[in-house]
Amino acid sequence: MKKINLSNPHIEALEPYMSARRIGGKGEVWLNANELPFPRQPMSLDASDFHRYPDEGPDLVQVAYAVYAGLQPDQVLALRGADEAIDLLLRAYCESGKDSIVISSPTYGMYQVCADIQNADVIDVPLQEDYQLDVPGILAQEGVKLVFICNPNNPTGNSFNREDILTILRFFEGKALVVIDEAYIEFCPEESLVSEMKNFENLVVVRTMSKAFGLAGVHVGYLLASEAVMTIMRKVSAPYPLADPCAQITLQSLNENAIQLMNKQVNQISQIRDSFCAALADIPDVTNVVPSETNFVLVFFSNNEMAWQALIEAGVVARRIPHLRLAEAIRFTIGTTEEMAIVIQVLNRLS
Ligand SMILES: Cc1ncc(COP(=O)(O)O)c(C=O)c1O
Repeated sequence: MKKINLSNPHIEALEPYMSARRIGGKGEVWLNANELPFPRQPMSLDASDFHRYPDEGPDLVQVAYAVYAGLQPDQVLALRGADEAIDLLLRAYCESGKDSIVISSPTYGMYQVCADIQNADVIDVPLQEDYQLDVPGILAQEGVKLVFICNPNNPTGNSFNREDILTILRFFEGKALVVIDEAYIEFCPEESLVSEMKNFENLVVVRTMSKAFGLAGVHVGYLLASEAVMTIMRKVSAPYPLADPCAQITLQSLNENAIQLMNKQVNQISQIRDSFCAALADIPDVTNVVPSETNFVLVFFSNNEMAWQALIEAGVVARRIPHLRLAEAIRFTIGTTEEMAIVIQVLNRLS
C-alpha cells in the first residue's frame, strides 16, 4: 500500500486543541470544562420535519438571540458553538501565510488553534501582572486583522477595564476587527460590550449557550456583528448551520421562563463560587486565588503537583492550563455545593 503524504505542511505541525473531553480523566466530580453542574429537565422535540433539511438561519433562533441580546436579527449569526464563530472569523479575515491576529495570554486556547489551522500568525501581547490588558502593547500591533479579547477572561476569570477595551476599539476602527468573546458574560452582564455595537463597525461579539445556559451538550452559540461584518460572515457560514433538534432546544432555552431559570442558576453558582473562594483563603497550600466573575476560579498552590495528585486520588477532575505563568495553578469549574465541599476537604488534607 502506498503511503499518503498530502496534508498541508502547517497542518502536519499543528498542535490540536486539547478539550476537557480529549484530555479525559477519571472521577465523579467533573470540574474541568466550565459547564453548569445542574442536569437539564426533559424537553420536547417535534420530529415531524426531521426528514427535511433545517431552515437557514434559522430565522426564529436568530430572532430569539436578537431579543435576548437587545439587537436586530440581522446582527445575529446562529452557529455551532462559539468555537465555530472563532474559526469562521479566522477563515474570513486572515489570508493564509500572510495575516496575523493578537491574543493576550493566558487566554482561551482556540484563538491560537484556529489561527494555526488558517496558517495565520499569532502575536501574543501577554496580560499584565494583574491580568489586565497591556493596551500600549496591543496598540503597537497596527497591521493585524483580528484582536481577540476574552471578556471575562478564561482561564483567569477576571474581566478587563472597559475603558481599555474602548481605547482598543477606537484605535483599530477601520483597521482591524476587535472580537470580544463573551462566553461567560451571563455571570457579569454589566461587562458586556454589546451596547457599543451601535458605535463601532469593527466590534464583533462571540457568545455561547454552553456555559450559563447549561447547553454544552447541544453545542450552540452565536456571533453578533455589524452589517459589514455579517455580509462577509454569511459567505463563509456552512449551509444549514443548526440541526433542527438543536434549533428547537435553543428556542425553548430562550423563552422568558428559561431565561429566569438561567439567571437563578447563575446567582446560585456565583454564591457557591464566593463561599468556595472564602474557604480557599484558609488553606495554607493556596498561595493565590484570582478574583473571578465567572463560573470558574484560578487557584495557585505552593505545590501544584501535590494538590493535583490529591485531587485525582479523590476523583476530582479539574484543569491545569499549559501556560508558563500558570505552572502552579489549577482551574476549578464551580460545581454544586457538595462538589466544592469535596474539593475543600481534599485541599485541607494537603499539609
Ligand atoms: C472563552 C471561551 N470561548 C468559547 C468557548 C467555546 O464555546 P462553545 O462551547 O460554544 O464552542 C469556550 C469554551 O470553553 C470558552 O471558554
